[in-house]
Amino acid sequence: MQASQLKYFFTTSPPNPKHKALPPFQAQYPSFTCKILINPSKKLNIPRIPLPPPPPPVPRSPLVPELEPVVKPERALVPQEPKYPVHLNPFQKLAALACDKIETLVIMPLEKHHDLPKTVDPAVQITGNFAPVQECSVQHGLEVVGQIPDCLRGVYARNGANPMFEPSAGHHLFDGDGMIHAVSLGPGNEASYSCRYTRTSKLVQEARFGRPMFPKPIGELHGHLGLARLALFMARTGVGLVDGSHGTGVANAGLIYFNGRLLAMSEDDLPYHVKINNDADIETVGRFNFDDQIDCPLIAHPKLDPVTGALHTLNYNVLKKPYLKYLKFDKSGKKSRDVNVPIEQATMIHDFAITENFVVIPDHQMVFKLSEMIRGGSPVVYDKKKTSRFGILQQNDVDGSRIQWIDVPNCFCFHLWNAWEENNGDDKTVVVLGSCMTPPDSVFNESEDPFRSELSEIRLNLRTGESTQRVIISGLNLEAGQVNRKFQGRKTRFAYLAIAEPWPKCSGIAKVDLETGEVTKFMYGACRFGGEPFFVPEKGNKFGGNGNNEGFEDEGYVMGIVRDEKWENSELVILKALNMEQVATIKLPRRVPYGFHGTFVSQEELNQQIISK
Ligand SMILES: [Fe+2]
Repeated sequence: MQASQLKYFFTTSPPNPKHKALPPFQAQYPSFTCKILINPSKKLNIPRIPLPPPPPPVPRSPLVPELEPVVKPERALVPQEPKYPVHLNPFQKLAALACDKIETLVIMPLEKHHDLPKTVDPAVQITGNFAPVQECSVQHGLEVVGQIPDCLRGVYARNGANPMFEPSAGHHLFDGDGMIHAVSLGPGNEASYSCRYTRTSKLVQEARFGRPMFPKPIGELHGHLGLARLALFMARTGVGLVDGSHGTGVANAGLIYFNGRLLAMSEDDLPYHVKINNDADIETVGRFNFDDQIDCPLIAHPKLDPVTGALHTLNYNVLKKPYLKYLKFDKSGKKSRDVNVPIEQATMIHDFAITENFVVIPDHQMVFKLSEMIRGGSPVVYDKKKTSRFGILQQNDVDGSRIQWIDVPNCFCFHLWNAWEENNGDDKTVVVLGSCMTPPDSVFNESEDPFRSELSEIRLNLRTGESTQRVIISGLNLEAGQVNRKFQGRKTRFAYLAIAEPWPKCSGIAKVDLETGEVTKFMYGACRFGGEPFFVPEKGNKFGGNGNNEGFEDEGYVMGIVRDEKWENSELVILKALNMEQVATIKLPRRVPYGFHGTFVSQEELNQQIISK
């Protein structure tokens, strides 16, 4: 692997000297943070030792048999049991030994002298129902209470972080290996469940060595010891012990079905193509580069236009310009746009939005300053001097020269739920729907200030270049959710959002009427918590925006996985969106940890899956 190809991530959390006196788990919280691409070769310039090329790898057995034995039945986190693959030559074995000694005798003791902040303390990040689980092969015949609606035929799949190996130092929730939980819903109230790791390049290599070999992007790559971890990894890649040229990502954040493929994504890598087989089990097909059309990471929140079928997404780079790119693929998967978006500062952009004609790009105050890491701190900085703004880019523009930036002071939206265009006389306005977080860096750093995530409407007047902000729902933290995706980019009346209280747990689902401000809640009950709700429209509910809708926008079902922490069981809850009343509960055979984002793959889409690379 060339050092110049190395791409990595950093954390933003300052040390917390109080971490040893943490409150009980329920009162703690793993902060949600972003992942940041850097190119360490620019900073480290580690000399390369000329080596003979490593021998070709010995053919390996298929992934599933290779990974399964290391997951002990009694625990999900696998203790590190280093082993050297048999294909290593004598020099590589010697180098591997030397690297291990440096890690265990130098780096790890120094790490133990540093108090871990809650945001990267494994005792906080992966405990309770944030703790990982083992893989689970398909379990059929699940108990169903109520009736699964006829229109729900397919698989609800939800991504999440599930570290395979026991951490030896810092670990952030986002560092965990991607695992997909899939609940298949069939006729006759039939339901099944499975969960599988996404076989990323990182995971496969680490399973081969019986221990972590890639630095944890957020938990470890912080300050000087983070640089040491990075140097160690570069040494290991330099002698051919591990290979980062096929990506270093964990594929743990988002899921989307596009053009016959279910894609698992995190913003640190290309997507991974996974498939759901005929038995409702999940298999990793491989890292997906859109048929050799891209070679850059994509964010985990692409947007699928329900009318055109086009996929819109972003790539960001924290090292060099262009710091940001907009990419668009037509419904057949052909890349039709690759636009450099001119921003002057590397900025964290986790999500964005589309309208019928525009791409709406947040350019907020969380920026990257890698010099801070060299000085021992966090490379992610809340830049109070910067004014938050949104960029409005025509989807069909071939470059970024016509993008219109509109200031929206003191606005930080980690996620955006939707956006649409409104015309009023000479004015054209882009309306953005998002949850505004305060303090802006609360997802990155520990803070004494209370966490707030307020559902807000941001109006961007394209004629005047002015903006307004309005809190739609105050006094209620709403994060993780969506609108009816058949109306993505078109005016929507309803949003379905997790009630993010007590943060980061979610105690229920709120259906918000954006016109009236009415909130209809479904609360999970005492000691029961969930995550992102997913809305599935009724069949025949056509796309919005063109006046040809069949049915109503809120005709459909909302689902989400819930954990009862008292009785220690997990279930998939299905609500009728019209009245937010529960219609069915599927009892899941295993604990399902709290996770990130999900999607629903219909039976029709399952039948159309592309099952090879
Ligand atoms: Fe997200």
